[in-house]
Amino acid sequence: MEDVIEEVKAPKPQTGQANPHGPETADRDRPAAPETAQAGRRTETLSTEDRAQDRWFMEDRGNRRVPKRLDVPNEALVSAAGPLKLTGNITLIDEAGQTHYANHLTLCRCGASRNKPYCDDQHMEVEFFDSGSIPQASECRQMANPQMLTVTCIKDGPLKYQGYLRVYNRKGQQCLTMQGALCRCGRSTKKPFCDCR
Ligand code: FES
Repeated sequence: MEDVIEEVKAPKPQTGQANPHGPETADRDRPAAPETAQAGRRTETLSTEDRAQDRWFMEDRGNRRVPKRLDVPNEALVSAAGPLKLTGNITLIDEAGQTHYANHLTLCRCGASRNKPYCDDQHMEVEFFDSGSIPQASECRQMANPQMLTVTCIKDGPLKYQGYLRVYNRKGQQCLTMQGALCRCGRSTKKPFCDCR
């Protein structure tokens, strides 16, 4: 699994914000992919951010430009006393309503990060404790096609998600859900899910 993650690291630029686990750091030194003549013409009209996404994420489908679907499952690894590690075809909508595309995100679930929704290792400073257990274990099946996952950061609330997501931990517990809300304040009694309190 780790090898796959390395190959699909997201290049989403987080302009002006340090994100130790985010795409910007991961791909800072990655060489640019060669551009075709057609792509070269297109980049003249795109913003810097769009061009960065264009290089790694976007593809032509019909007459639309859409995020590339990589053949990776949507998964959330719940780390004990640490963040949520998401992989997959992720559309992240932040609190300001900005849309970001990524294939690998490390999101805060302790509530202490100064760079929300991303983890900045503050969970160690605040000695966040959670065993990482999955309370509603269920059968998981492999999806035939790459699925999309949309994660929305609710202001002063959870991470709401829509799309097939396997939530698992290193103890072998897992569940598959279509939609739900993940805790990001660290206080839910149903972690990693939100208990809506
Ligand atoms: S889980 Fe890492 S800062 Fe919150």
